[in-house]
Amino acid sequence: MARPSFGACHPLVRYTVSMDTLYDGSRTPILEALEKFQATENASLHVPGHKAGRGFASEFAKYAMPLARIDATELPGLDDLHHPQGVIKEAEQLAAMAWGSDTAFFLVNGSTVGNLAAVMAVVNAGDTVIIGRDAHQSVWHALELARARVVAVLPRHIGPLIGAIHAQDIEAAIHAYPEATAVVITSPTYHGIVPDLTSIVHLAHASGMKVIVDEAHGAHLAFHPDLPLSAVSAKADLVVQSTHKMTAAFTQTALLHVCGDKVDVENVRHYLRVFQTSSPSYLMLASIDAARAQLMVEGPVLIGKMLDILSEARKQLNDSYPGLVNAGFEGLMSDPFKWTLWALKWGVTGEQLANAFMQSGVFVELYDEEHVLLVWTYANSTRDMEKVIRVIHQVFHGRSRLAHAGHVSSWSNEIPRYSAVLPFDTSKKNKHLASLEDLPGKRAASAITLYPPGIPLLLPGEAYTANMIQYIKKCVAFGLRVDGLANAEEGRAWFLGE
Ligand SMILES: Cc1ncc(COP(=O)(O)O)c(C=O)c1O
Repeated sequence: MARPSFGACHPLVRYTVSMDTLYDGSRTPILEALEKFQATENASLHVPGHKAGRGFASEFAKYAMPLARIDATELPGLDDLHHPQGVIKEAEQLAAMAWGSDTAFFLVNGSTVGNLAAVMAVVNAGDTVIIGRDAHQSVWHALELARARVVAVLPRHIGPLIGAIHAQDIEAAIHAYPEATAVVITSPTYHGIVPDLTSIVHLAHASGMKVIVDEAHGAHLAFHPDLPLSAVSAKADLVVQSTHKMTAAFTQTALLHVCGDKVDVENVRHYLRVFQTSSPSYLMLASIDAARAQLMVEGPVLIGKMLDILSEARKQLNDSYPGLVNAGFEGLMSDPFKWTLWALKWGVTGEQLANAFMQSGVFVELYDEEHVLLVWTYANSTRDMEKVIRVIHQVFHGRSRLAHAGHVSSWSNEIPRYSAVLPFDTSKKNKHLASLEDLPGKRAASAITLYPPGIPLLLPGEAYTANMIQYIKKCVAFGLRVDGLANAEEGRAWFLGE
């Protein structure tokens, strides 16, 4: 990677640099410290037990070896994730500068731990929290731990599990529940839709509420002007990002940003200590550090190149097969790196299309009855695009768009506009098991979640309906992973004793 002089960092993000803390965005403090460490140590009498990979089983060593040398732990010169004073502190400051936040925390358990810590840091037991119902299960788990009262705002659905949270609906919830202390929004959604965050943050702050944004799918947004506004730029108070999803870092890596002065940073640090391991992987920490430097130095160019490829291909495909890519997204802000292919509009199920891709060696993010989701990043190439286009032509050529391609599942119509749920008593004594057929009318004792995307179909406390049960059975029969069932094959789930 080229090392431009300070000042060559991309101009898109807001950051302040005081005279005594000049930071070079191309530096990677953690990686530099690891390089120095592995060059000097010649006998390891500390953990990890693999001793720079020498103890690895040979089948594993053939993949893991070069990395094993920097799979270190908190040794002199390598700092401490929970009390950063050295290279981790410096790397976190660089990350805050890159994304434009005031404080950034490196995470080694994904956005999952970011959501847990963010919610716990600002929500007290009994507080009311307004939340987009399309939130990931980690947010629901956090609210359960916090014993919050939750007002869930339904997205306006475009298709099953695809929807957009509208600022007007959040505004209505804020008026209806003025006692709420926080608003939690997912942006972008799994399918790439970005709500009007600026308005939501403005409305929430005007009512004294804090805003947490689960931006697990949006770590790249800050690095190109043609991408939707990032949550940090929209001035959310806490922003959680998976660096492993839309940027080029190891799986499980993530960031938690604190912006402004409404949130006590030490409270956030406390909950990260509660939830994160005391032995963080330096491979992960170095990988966040390197991805951040890459984004600051080359991000706009890498992203810009891929955006050109995506926009050209999407135009061509929608000319040939109108409405195939991201139909229904018109008028909404969305991330061009996510493609929802609406196969069923052309008489092809999501599963059939996903299988056709797989036969050509193309593995997709997810599929359901109606569509397939493709996740692109700046690490993809023209060659990947050519493969995708080839499969699409093979599958859709000669087909015509169905006149009435209605949605297969209507369960989402049954969910109330707001559902006030939690805290609820899900203690073991209040949970009972029944087969799916016997559940309509009873209230769920645990969330029923399709994974991916990890968004609950049913929240604890909400009533099972016949339609919902039918949908759950269909997903199981389809081979999809449904979390929250006692045993998917036996088809039983928990309900709350009244
Ligand atoms: C919106 C959203 N938030 C949070 C998560 C959890 O992220 P991680 O896998 O980094 O823990 C996911 C995972 O898919 C997600 O889609």
